[in-house]
Amino acid sequence: MKAIRIGLLGCGTVGGGVVQLLHANASEIAARVGAPLEIAMVAVRDVAKTRATALDRARVVTDPWLLMNDDAKIDVIVETMGGLDPTAALLERALERGPVVTANKMLLATHGAKLLERAKASGHELAFEGAVGGGIPIIRVLREALVGDTVESLRGIVNGTCNFILTKMSAGGGASFDAVLAEAQALGYAEAEPSLDIDGHDAAQKLAILALLAFGAHVDASKIPTEGIRNVAPIDHQFAARFGFAIKHLAVGRNRGSEVELRVHPSLVHRDATLANVNGVLNAIAIEGRALGPCLLSGRGAGANPTAVSVLGDIVDVARSLVQLPKGTAPRALRWKDTPIAKVDASDSRYYLRFQVFDRPGVLAKITGALGDARVSIEQMVQQGGGDASGAPVQVVLMTHAAKESAIERALASIASADFVAQPTRVIRVEEA
Ligand code: NAP
Ligand code: HSE
Repeated sequence: MKAIRIGLLGCGTVGGGVVQLLHANASEIAARVGAPLEIAMVAVRDVAKTRATALDRARVVTDPWLLMNDDAKIDVIVETMGGLDPTAALLERALERGPVVTANKMLLATHGAKLLERAKASGHELAFEGAVGGGIPIIRVLREALVGDTVESLRGIVNGTCNFILTKMSAGGGASFDAVLAEAQALGYAEAEPSLDIDGHDAAQKLAILALLAFGAHVDASKIPTEGIRNVAPIDHQFAARFGFAIKHLAVGRNRGSEVELRVHPSLVHRDATLANVNGVLNAIAIEGRALGPCLLSGRGAGANPTAVSVLGDIVDVARSLVQLPKGTAPRALRWKDTPIAKVDASDSRYYLRFQVFDRPGVLAKITGALGDARVSIEQMVQQGGGDASGAPVQVVLMTHAAKESAIERALASIASADFVAQPTRVIRVEEA
């Protein structure tokens, strides 16, 4: 039986996990595919690097273009290299030759439509289960299982690093943001450039991919209103808990017909809601289908093993088609159109506002007055600190009734430069689950 030859671009956290899992389950996989899978060639940057997974040095190269040569006789290209350059050009070329499996959300969010067009034109599959939700089979669900329904909305915890950090910080114990981020990096959760995670861009890229599959909406991921978790302080977790909420970093999408509402930001989620209890590196995506109703998928969203499971599932899928279909793989039909992103005011929300102010007579009246002038109504309020001679700022925390973001911004702008404001106000949306 002729082996299916795999060309692996990159062998770091994810690629190494794929090689390991492929070796561990080789005979079962060969039986499922109808042929053994062989890692024929691997491209890395540094051949001498010590790796968790031993590689046959004779098959390791530093020039990824060698895998595209006809004499390499590669059947399936698996890309776990990351980034846009030279990856985009490599995968365009690879799709002319055969099926491609990738876990690269940045690439898909930026060039996904072009690559899918290329796959359609050449008749080869582009599979990308590992790109969103790590080990959660969300891509297959949206691409295949739910094609008979209309997805109306989705809400997801889609960045494992952010969820890991927020969970550790909410548990108290005083671990610093930097220490928890270093732990996430050591565990292989974080991107090579961790600001992609903590500033929300990784989640925005994943949301752009989900929007394409769920709503048929092609958007520019860099235009999605995006906020990361750098400004969420331990005290915000304490106040949120006091009001009955957990703080989660959410990617939210809603189909609005001619436009699509997309946003990524920290959110207060009621402690009884399922998403509030998705902790650590776990991801979860809650889908609302018109016919299906609610559906929740949850699992480990980052790291070598969970992501390798998704990548290997794709490899087996395309390899099986190569063995069993007369013409090899055929790309699954997807339809999309360029879709504008709705303005942030598209939906009202309750808000958590934490003011850091000097404790002087009349300050509360000025804050509530500014909110009242902007027609923002207050639901609850607490003040913490003050009453001593230190003159240190106090925390005034308000929960508002549902309001437009523009109204909140108007109110905050009118007091931002007041002499009683010690630090910028912290604003977090409440996500009603
Ligand atoms: P990584 O550990 O940094 O691995 C990247 C690999 O690519 C390394 O083996 C590196 O070689 C190789 N490489 C990079 N640029 C190259 C070039 N120009 N030529 C040849 N080889 C090159 O990254 P990772 O965490 O595995 O992530 C890989 C991809 O999977 C990214 O797109 C990421 O977004 C995605 N992803 C990651 C996770 C996760 O949990 N880590 C989960 C889902 C998706 P050296 O080893 O020699 O440096
Ligand atoms: N850095 C990403 C995360 C990897 O933390 O979720 C999984 O896509």
